Amino acid sequence: MADATRGGESAGALTRDQARDRLADLAAALDAANRAYYQDDAPVISDAEFDAIKRDYAAIEARFPDLERPDSPTQQIGAAPAEGFGKITHAQRMLSLANAFDAADVADFVAGIRRYLGLSDTAPLAFTAEPKIDGLSLSLRYETGTLVHAATRGDGVTGENVTANARTIADIPQTLTGAPDLLEVRGEVYMTHADFAALNDRQAQAGGKTFANPRNAAAGSLRQLDAEITRARPLRFFAYSWGDLSEPLAATQMQAIARLAALGFQTNPLTLPCPDVETMLAHYARIEARRATLGYDIDGVVYKLDDLALQARLGLRSTTPRWAIAHKFPAELAWTRLEAIDIQVGRTGALSPVARLTPVTVGGVVVSNATLHNEDYIAGRDARGAPIREGRDIRLGDWVQVYRAGDVIPKIADVDLAKRAPDAVPFAFPTTCPECGSDALREEGDAVRRCTGGLICPAQAVEKLKHFVSRAAFDIEGLGAKQVEAFYTDGWIREPADIFDLRARYGQGLQQLRNREGWGDKSAANLFDAIDDRRRIALGRVIFALGIRHVGEVAAADLARHFGTWPALIDTVDRAAGEPAAQAPDARARKPLLAQSPAWAEITGIDGIGEAVALALTTTLTQGSERASVDRLIAHLDIQPPPARRADGSPVAGKTVVFTGTLEKMTRAEAKARAEALGAKVSGSVSAKTDILVAGPGAGSKAAKAAELGIETLDEDGWLALIGAADG
Ligand code: IVH
Repeated sequence: MADATRGGESAGALTRDQARDRLADLAAALDAANRAYYQDDAPVISDAEFDAIKRDYAAIEARFPDLERPDSPTQQIGAAPAEGFGKITHAQRMLSLANAFDAADVADFVAGIRRYLGLSDTAPLAFTAEPKIDGLSLSLRYETGTLVHAATRGDGVTGENVTANARTIADIPQTLTGAPDLLEVRGEVYMTHADFAALNDRQAQAGGKTFANPRNAAAGSLRQLDAEITRARPLRFFAYSWGDLSEPLAATQMQAIARLAALGFQTNPLTLPCPDVETMLAHYARIEARRATLGYDIDGVVYKLDDLALQARLGLRSTTPRWAIAHKFPAELAWTRLEAIDIQVGRTGALSPVARLTPVTVGGVVVSNATLHNEDYIAGRDARGAPIREGRDIRLGDWVQVYRAGDVIPKIADVDLAKRAPDAVPFAFPTTCPECGSDALREEGDAVRRCTGGLICPAQAVEKLKHFVSRAAFDIEGLGAKQVEAFYTDGWIREPADIFDLRARYGQGLQQLRNREGWGDKSAANLFDAIDDRRRIALGRVIFALGIRHVGEVAAADLARHFGTWPALIDTVDRAAGEPAAQAPDARARKPLLAQSPAWAEITGIDGIGEAVALALTTTLTQGSERASVDRLIAHLDIQPPPARRADGSPVAGKTVVFTGTLEKMTRAEAKARAEALGAKVSGSVSAKTDILVAGPGAGSKAAKAAELGIETLDEDGWLALIGAADG
């Protein structure tokens, strides 16, 4: 992605129009990266790539200052808080740090401060140097020594209220003695490498979500709506800064940190006072040398002016203090040989190329595999056909540059054409599935080539079965990913339905199962009991378990809540599949066909369900062999509708409600959850079936349509009054 957005051209070479377009592209790329990182805890590009795009952006903006956009990324920190948490407005903004990438940047930083303060080159000026922890920042507010709330950084102005979660972290004191009456302590929540590895092991064994790196694990663990989950996660906290204070902590940064340590906070032992730039850079080198053995991730060194009175004089830019800077470590890189490209086939048939490398050490870790993303990436272009790596493709036997950017799976950044063998040929990406030989097709607009074999493809079948038994799906005790794979190989289970007649087949002499090592009648009976336990199962789990593309846990729950029963769902899907909208070649062609496609409109009208889900549902569930397999499964099950919410006596029970415009007293997620708890259905679009439209400021076409259809429209207060009466 970064490659796609990094034009490589210097800001000076651009015309105004080109610069405007480029700024828009870069802003969009940064925005997408920010959301992925801060809201979804699932980064799409490395920090180094992010910094590079941001630098490009700043360079163009500096050359064309009048093109500054209202959403300029140079004026922003992070992303707005995610929905689902309460919000806390920080008494003092939580800042970001400017970056330095080399010694010259650090010298410039110090020289700039001297200039600002009117100090000569030789006047003493002390700094501190400390590791930059790669976690997520947290602000803890103590009033008269008691922790009153904890907030994430959010966009720097408003963060998420994670107080209950923060209280579960051992490094965070609940009370302080001898602290100022008002004290906001700021620092970083992080996870050690050992705790991260153990957590991922536990998650994998339980069939749960595993995390890409310790930072994501820390963020995902802190930002849990259920604090009991956070309690079970090994989070730690380093204090390195502060916000609102009723009285100064100390006269210098070093002393202030010592004071925080005395109050009971963990502070980083590698924090060092530095009288000059040479000492700062030497400490940077020392910390970088220890990076691989510290036991937690750091991504640079932070320098801060030591004298707090001088810090106050320097003050802040829009999002960063003038008195501090982060000296980033370069991305961890190494060159090695590409020995082979293996193609793995996933649950939805996606063919994923994996690089097999001559093992090489990258930042203290031996790397022998790396992802190659997809065929375009290998060919040297992005999904839109624009060149990446300046169009250099990757061939077997090439020397390639590998990098790790905090991710568990390393990536390939570049290829050395000078070392390419003269007889090397471009990699021929398979057009048939390497596992089953079926055609592997690439749909228009899809970066991925997919095997069309469906259940006849052993790789897809096994991955589907693993998904089927995973924790959020059928979660059958004693039947995890490993067992399913073994049972598939031995031919006992080919598709989900087979799980449910294992007992019967065993009774009829499924001898191999009996003879399996470590297996006897007793363990078989236990397994069959566990399977029987799961015949009665919630509709949402069944939908999720089918492993349909784009249908994750949340979409499955939304569908279950809307349809209530399997027949209602499948009947609507069957009708939708026959309607004009389902046959449309693309989204644009689909829109005008909606009016003639009532079942399709019903599915896409469910809040949270978009066209991609509707399309995946209709195509997958109406494909002959796939449908037959699903029908065989359904016949074994006693599917339970989603639990009826507290709907008795609620004036909105059974009503279809649409929210539009800005809600000021609650987040969308809250509004939706509350309405559903009262038995209402929440839909994303207004139709004749809508009963109530709740319109906040800025409501547009939906309000107009509701008025046209004569649908009852309430403002937020009106809605609250209505459900408040119901709640009371
Ligand atoms: S000081 C006013 N010190 O880096 C400056 N930040 O890129 C407040 N970070 O938002 C930050 N380690 O989340 C500071 N030793 C450290 C840090 C550190 C990590 C994070 C922090 C900040 C981000 C800026």
